[in-house]
Amino acid sequence: MQAQFLTLDGIDGSGKSTHLETMREWFERRGMPVLFTREPGGTPLGEELRRLLLSPDSRVGLRTETLLMFAARRQHLEDVILPALDKGIHVVSDRFTDATFAYQGGGRGIPAADIEVLENWVQGSLRPNLTLLLDVPLEVSFERIARSREKDRFEQEEAEFFARVRRAYLDRAAAHPQRYRVIDSNRSREEVRAAVEAALQAHFEAV
Ligand code: ADP
Ligand code: TYD
Repeated sequence: MQAQFLTLDGIDGSGKSTHLETMREWFERRGMPVLFTREPGGTPLGEELRRLLLSPDSRVGLRTETLLMFAARRQHLEDVILPALDKGIHVVSDRFTDATFAYQGGGRGIPAADIEVLENWVQGSLRPNLTLLLDVPLEVSFERIARSREKDRFEQEEAEFFARVRRAYLDRAAAHPQRYRVIDSNRSREEVRAAVEAALQAHFEAV
């Protein structure tokens, strides 16, 4: 089996951090080699860019924001993702390019065609083998975020922004059904965990 590139995505507060743990445990139980990483970030340069991108004090233009996401991504691919896959290690990334289509595309209004140009330039033909998309209604995500943490620069956006982000994720998932599993995250942690595990099981049985 070729090493698999998996991504976990969804709006803020959808349960991503919670279910990265589900995924980590799933791989651990099976003794499968896996590397967990995240975007923006994953390398020293990427983590610096992440800090700037998420800081509520940063002033970043729309195109600049999009370019910085892809700059971090290119370094991440070169230094972390591609070398791991080459060595036969599965990779799970907490967010990837779907987040750019959703946040910079849907949320901020950068045309998807422009993002596709950068996607092709930065990634060549590389796309995730499987993307788990955690989906929750906005009210639920807002309530979960309010209970759990200080808001970063993106989380401070208004509800309309997140409605567009969520719509963009769901539209992309509908357009690429073979790559995405949309998981209803508006359920108990245990139910979502079971759905995440089932999606992993089905994927690895099929490859
Ligand atoms: P994300 O990483 O997508 O922003 P988190 O996993 O950090 O989301 O979840 C946000 C908050 O919601 C956390 O406090 C988490 O414990 C809680 N949470 C996650 N999943 C559920 C769930 N199914 N039901 C209730 N609360 C949840
Ligand atoms: P996130 O991964 O949600 O981290 P945490 O769980 O610690 O809040 O934060 C990253 C933020 O960056 C999130 O709001 C989405 C945003 N983002 C983009 O806007 N575009 C991208 O391409 C990526 C990867 C993330």
